[in-house]
Amino acid sequence: MAANTDAIVLVGGKGTRLRPLTLTAPKPMLPTAGVPFLTHLLSRIKAAGMRHVVLGTSYRAEVFAEYFGDGTQFGLEMEYVVETEPLDTAGAIRNVADRLRGEDAMVFNGDILSGTDPAALLNAHHDAAADVTLHLVKVADPSRFGSVPTDASGRVTAFLEKTPNPPTDQVNAGCYVFRRDVIESIPAGRPVSVERETFPGLLESGATLHGFVDSSYWLDVGTPAAFVRGSADLVRGIAPTHALPGSPGERLVLDGASVAPEATVDGGSSVGASASIAAGARVSGSVVFEGARIERDAVVEDSVIGRDARVGAGTVLRGVVLGDDVDVGAGCELLEGARLWPGVVLPDGGVRFSTDV
Ligand code: GTP
Repeated sequence: MAANTDAIVLVGGKGTRLRPLTLTAPKPMLPTAGVPFLTHLLSRIKAAGMRHVVLGTSYRAEVFAEYFGDGTQFGLEMEYVVETEPLDTAGAIRNVADRLRGEDAMVFNGDILSGTDPAALLNAHHDAAADVTLHLVKVADPSRFGSVPTDASGRVTAFLEKTPNPPTDQVNAGCYVFRRDVIESIPAGRPVSVERETFPGLLESGATLHGFVDSSYWLDVGTPAAFVRGSADLVRGIAPTHALPGSPGERLVLDGASVAPEATVDGGSSVGASASIAAGARVSGSVVFEGARIERDAVVEDSVIGRDARVGAGTVLRGVVLGDDVDVGAGCELLEGARLWPGVVLPDGGVRFSTDV
């Protein structure tokens, strides 16, 4: 059944919340646990038995095809459709309609880490004879999301905006099964949002929208804090993937990286090829891109260190994002939420900078 289902992956967003990392690479291509983020999702699509994958691209469209090619190397058949203007989520789904082959297509937001079984979602869709089936996930704090209540049979009854006291803890998990004719009914050639337009419109017209609810691992990696957590969860084997280069553990050090024996690297940190961590440095829960240098006695926690960036001796970074080629001198301290744009240079000598003071 899954073999006849097309996978559509939406990867066209600008990823503004992850700037400056997304100035140079689109969010789904950011190195995450050793490989571009999207590789983890593709590994799960393949494991579920799907073969034909269509990427809906817009922002930095060319880099996807450059890396994944026709998909053969990943055991998939991959195609790319480029939007000249971003068409938003439903517009992007509609824009790939002429590439679809099966009765149903499974749509994935390209920035979600999820433990749900795509095959189970597909089965639920068929059992319910639904027009669209949505993966809904139960979260601890639903007030941060729009919520999606369902009735006893699993039928979606409403799409509710964010509110302080939502009536359910079920939220849209960013993964759906659509009947192909429903995709064809989405207006073509203009931006359309699934959450704001398509789903409420379908509900009003009496379509069957089914909710597949679970509480498996789920994380939207759209913010820097979520990105480092997602990467660490992948490295430690908490988030499911079939694409981890190596076995799960406290750290992932890619070939060509150098970690001094007297350095500590843990908490699910990953260290990219040709990066170096000097003696006495402590790197925890962080993502160090290739070519970055962490000098002696530096402390890097829950942070992202961009490509070829340098962290000077004794510098402390906590919850920080350094863009590519940033150079932070020795003895500085940067705290929660600080982000430095590519190429910024901070001199030696105790700069203390935090966005929360
Ligand atoms: P932010 O700008 O930080 O909100 O990130 P984003 O641009 O990725 O937006 P959001 O997280 O809401 O997007 C959810 C998913 O839809 C992501 O996988 C995006 O890549 C994708 N997406 C959002 N807008 C578009 C679009 O216009 N076209 C395509 N093809 N995909 C989109």
